[in-house]
Amino acid sequence: MSVIVTGSVATDYLMAFPGNFTDQLLPEHLDSLSLSFLVDDLAIRRGGAGANIAFNLGLLGLRPWLVAAVGQDFADYDSWLRRHGVDTTFLHTSGTRLTARFICTTDRTHKQLASFYSGAMAEARLIDLAPAVRQAGPGTLVIIGPNDPAAMLRHTAQCRDRGYRFAADPSQQLARMDGDDVRQLVDGAEYLFTNEYERGLLEHKTGLSGAQLDARVGVSVTTLGAKGVVLRRRGEPEIRVAAAPPRTETDPTGVGDAFRAGYLAGVEWGVGDERAAQLGCLMATLVLETVGTQEHRGERDDLLARFAQAYGAAAAEEIADRLGASTGPDGTEPRALAGRP
Ligand SMILES: Nc1ncnc2c1ncn2[C@@H]1O[C@H](COP(=O)(O)OP(=O)(O)OP(=O)(O)O)[C@@H](O)[C@H]1O
Ligand SMILES: [Mg+2]
Repeated sequence: MSVIVTGSVATDYLMAFPGNFTDQLLPEHLDSLSLSFLVDDLAIRRGGAGANIAFNLGLLGLRPWLVAAVGQDFADYDSWLRRHGVDTTFLHTSGTRLTARFICTTDRTHKQLASFYSGAMAEARLIDLAPAVRQAGPGTLVIIGPNDPAAMLRHTAQCRDRGYRFAADPSQQLARMDGDDVRQLVDGAEYLFTNEYERGLLEHKTGLSGAQLDARVGVSVTTLGAKGVVLRRRGEPEIRVAAAPPRTETDPTGVGDAFRAGYLAGVEWGVGDERAAQLGCLMATLVLETVGTQEHRGERDDLLARFAQAYGAAAAEEIADRLGASTGPDGTEPRALAGRP
């Protein structure tokens, strides 16, 4: 089974200002505000929800297709993703815009001044999924991750019209969309992913009850932060999985994306919803332990040991032969997916 990931691709520029922004603001001169902060630290990180999900699927040995819009400046990021098992053949490269960029300065008191330049992402609405699905083959699952809102609607409509399997992952874009649009994104999805807050927002915006919402999708997956995840499946008992204990809580950015990749890798392997959700939680924990969203490793032995620690040796045994394709420590190409159905 193949997976196509759609969603944002961005680079984050993260800076640290050692003072306090508010000390620099003069209320009587705000109409001529012009400030430049001398910062101590700049970190550049690969990100974007679509790229994060694809990266994690690649780490687990799948060969996902990333179908998203990027700019002319994408060459380095592109080769990074390819080295981690992501197929970028069907990326749309803008002729005029740069790859989306998040530029954020954080002060000593954790106040932030940030801008998000969507850039090439605005062209994701021009993408036709059909060529990628033709290449990926029948039964391909399309993930509709947070992206240019018009692109999310177009991709979902195309999946429904053509009968492609799809997973809805609206994430932060829920805040931008009205109830009718949100319904469009969800109706007929095989999987619906949200965190707990987004789940409430989804019910509020669509006017649907939890049960009505669940009836429109195959599996409702609601992540609960440190409390793990709950899965509601039509006509079956719900499943709750505890989070995988982290060694450190270093940086939570990207945990949701890693969860989705681990879970979907598990279900595509056919190990069942509970094991799949546990793998999702473990991938999320690995991201939580590192700074950045694509800086963790997916070495097979380490993954299996952590899985056994969190969920028991018998559970680890059940995913062991599927994990044959994890990447090497230096991010070398994954081997062909062992035990792939
Ligand atoms: N403090 C934590 N300890 C262990 N696991 C965690 C913790 N926080 C999150 N996780 C893991 O990450 C998964 C997703 O977390 P969460 O529900 O916070 O997603 P999110 O709000 O979409 O995150 P983000 O959008 O910041 O990536 C959880 O289901 C859990 O497995
Ligand atoms: Mg999220």
